[in-house]
Amino acid sequence: MPSERPDTGTPLPVAVLISGSGSNLQALIDAQQAGELAADIRVVVSNRADAYGLTRARQAGIETQVLSHRGFPNRADYDAALADLLGDFDPGLVVLAGFMRILTPEFVAGFHGRMFNIHPSLLPKHPGLHTHQRALEAGDTEHGATVHFVTEELDGGPAVIQARVPVLPGDDADRLAARVLAQEHRIYPLAVRWFASGRLRLDDTGHVVLDDKPLSAPVRLDELI
Ligand code: GRF
Repeated sequence: MPSERPDTGTPLPVAVLISGSGSNLQALIDAQQAGELAADIRVVVSNRADAYGLTRARQAGIETQVLSHRGFPNRADYDAALADLLGDFDPGLVVLAGFMRILTPEFVAGFHGRMFNIHPSLLPKHPGLHTHQRALEAGDTEHGATVHFVTEELDGGPAVIQARVPVLPGDDADRLAARVLAQEHRIYPLAVRWFASGRLRLDDTGHVVLDDKPLSAPVRLDELI
């Protein structure tokens, strides 16, 4: 599957995977509705029936699907069913937006170069869970969020863009998380927009290419504005 998308002028078919609130999904919906994103969110899939993001999707008129992980004997079977489900929508991009499951290498390989994740830290710092608490405990003076292509390595795929926030005196994990989340809502639509317009791709050597130039480091939002 080629990872480069020529700029065809047609909206990019997108599938968004969620497990929870879906505020990043909402940011994508808002950008799409504002005419800032040449993307067609064809389906929102959740592994949890009670994910609030499903309500957001329905309110925007987007098809929703729930594929609960309960009832599957193992991760491989679940991921195979998920890949089948996504296949029905023929997505050019799969967007993980708070999808709280570790994906098998087989699933990831099926969407190589066309799957994004957003992670609430300045990767490679703090992969995994509880990133805000860990940033505080590490005494970090800045924290943030990263959009990256998904590879087999958990939170380890090539980074596209990062947004930074200061860690302020008196911060707790919730306050810090809220500050980071506001930035997530800025960088995720931007990355999807770049991909959808054919400006962004992963090349054969695993490097992120933006406007025909390989990135030596992720784009910094603060340097764009
Ligand atoms: C975000 O912090 C995202 O970085 C992480 O999970 C959270 C999802 O939030 N992967 P939401 O469901 O988009 O509101």
